[in-house]
Amino acid sequence: MEGGAMQRFEGKVVLITGAASGIGRAVVRRIAREGAALVLADRDREGLSQTAGSSGSKTVPLLYDAAQPGASADMAERAAEAFGGLDAVINIAGIYRRQHADRITAQHWAQMIQIDLTSVFEICQAALPALESRGGSIINTSSTAGLRGIAYAAHYAAAKAGILGLTQALAAEWAPRGIRANVVVPGRVQTSIASALPPLKDAPSMSRAHDPILPDLTEGVAPEGIAGLYAYLASEDARFVTGAIHVADGGAGLG
Ligand SMILES: NC(=O)c1ccc[n+]([C@@H]2O[C@H](COP(=O)([O-])OP(=O)(O)OC[C@H]3O[C@@H](n4cnc5c(N)ncnc54)[C@H](O)[C@@H]3O)[C@@H](O)[C@H]2O)c1
Repeated sequence: MEGGAMQRFEGKVVLITGAASGIGRAVVRRIAREGAALVLADRDREGLSQTAGSSGSKTVPLLYDAAQPGASADMAERAAEAFGGLDAVINIAGIYRRQHADRITAQHWAQMIQIDLTSVFEICQAALPALESRGGSIINTSSTAGLRGIAYAAHYAAAKAGILGLTQALAAEWAPRGIRANVVVPGRVQTSIASALPPLKDAPSMSRAHDPILPDLTEGVAPEGIAGLYAYLASEDARFVTGAIHVADGGAGLG
């Protein structure tokens, strides 16, 4: 059945961070089509209102800056109040910086870890009471850089590897409380972040020595191409799926 015909999120409330652009915006549209009320969080006011306007769903926009310690927790608490509960929290907001490891300053490092890792923990922790009361679910966004490493982004790779450990730890610890937690690991997705990445043929972690299985997809996918994975993980269809790492890279990492 085509996803748009399903209504898996009727009566459900979903918080999506990074909702102002890229993958976050595509996930908003995908889940809105299935009837969810959505809390859209980002630091980009203009992008948020564009996403809200095109979602065709009930939305509440929340501005926050993940770089500010504590701001993410405050946002998550406001999100839980927006529609009186939360059924899913989808963490997508993040930054990528291309920098040589020997030029990453303590400030660069701290900012990356704060935005791409600590903020996600703050949100999960602050959303716990709301999620627990509804048997909710968490979906966090890592990267193939977090699985296999990537040259010229040691801080990004470290933060995204941290997302794997964090999410699996929460899955184990909060399973008895009825909460699922899963990770999406996108490969190349055509967004503003991907435009800052080097061409795949130059990326040592994605060797083209072997014929790729899906040659078109390894070059990248439109954000709509992975939005359905997030929707699946947030839905009842994934009720037996937790602590799992879902790689969506078009086969780019295959031997
Ligand atoms: N595009 C890719 O190829 C790719 C690959 C692997 C992982 N990812 C991950 O996917 C997620 C989404 O990235 P994208 O590709 O859609 O890029 P994007 O830049 O289009 O989206 C990132 C969003 O996060 C928001 N954001 C950034 N810093 C923030 C802050 N301090 N506070 C609040 N919001 C903030 C931005 O405003 C933006 O809307 C990121 O976590 C990224 O690391 C992307």
